[in-house]
Amino acid sequence: MKKLSLAVALFVLPAVAQAWPWSQDMANQVSIKPQESVNPDAPGMTPFPKRSVPVKGTTTFVKDQEAARKMANPIAADEKSVAMGGRLFEIYCVACHGQSGKGDGLVGAKLVMLPWNLTNSNEMHTWDAKDYPDGHIFGYMSLGGAVMPSYANDLSAEERWHVVNYVRKVLQKAPAAVAAAAAK
Ligand code: HEC
Repeated sequence: MKKLSLAVALFVLPAVAQAWPWSQDMANQVSIKPQESVNPDAPGMTPFPKRSVPVKGTTTFVKDQEAARKMANPIAADEKSVAMGGRLFEIYCVACHGQSGKGDGLVGAKLVMLPWNLTNSNEMHTWDAKDYPDGHIFGYMSLGGAVMPSYANDLSAEERWHVVNYVRKVLQKAPAAVAAAAAK
């Protein structure tokens, strides 16, 4: 019985399971890794090709949620922005937060903690822009939460603000410009 419970514990603990030699096999195969040099005379990382430029704005380095909350929304919540935000919300957020934004998405239902309610019917807090400014929503997308993953690599900073505008205007039915002004 003792042996069995030890075996079970070993397989259940992901940290222990990671340490098995075969868990590295895929990583250690003979292959060229991203940006690895193929020139045996110049091993290591290949320099970037001439005139290549980094992709703009894929990650915004917001220090923490506190700093994010102080950010002002730079994008006006006009029709175009809200429409773009709606499309992105559909792709990245609906799975968990649901079409309604209330946290009733199909994937969200399987999480250890249900996704929080992004609408005005939020039972934990109101979405009063004084306490929950646009930057709060932007921060969650940039940094993620305890369970929610970060979307900083999937959405550019600009795209994240479009999503904020959609959440404010459509899900919370409040004009984002007003919310942004109140946050100042
Ligand atoms: C994998 C599921 C998942 C996805 C996808 C997801 N979220 Fe979340 N979200 C959560 C969970 C769970 C929480 C609860 C807080 C936590 O994880 O710390 C949360 C919390 C939040 C909060 C905080 C709400 C509050 O009351 O303060 C915001 C804002 C938010 N999400 C926005 C978004 C937006 C916008 C997207 C799409 C870009 C998104 N989330 C995508 C799971 C998800």
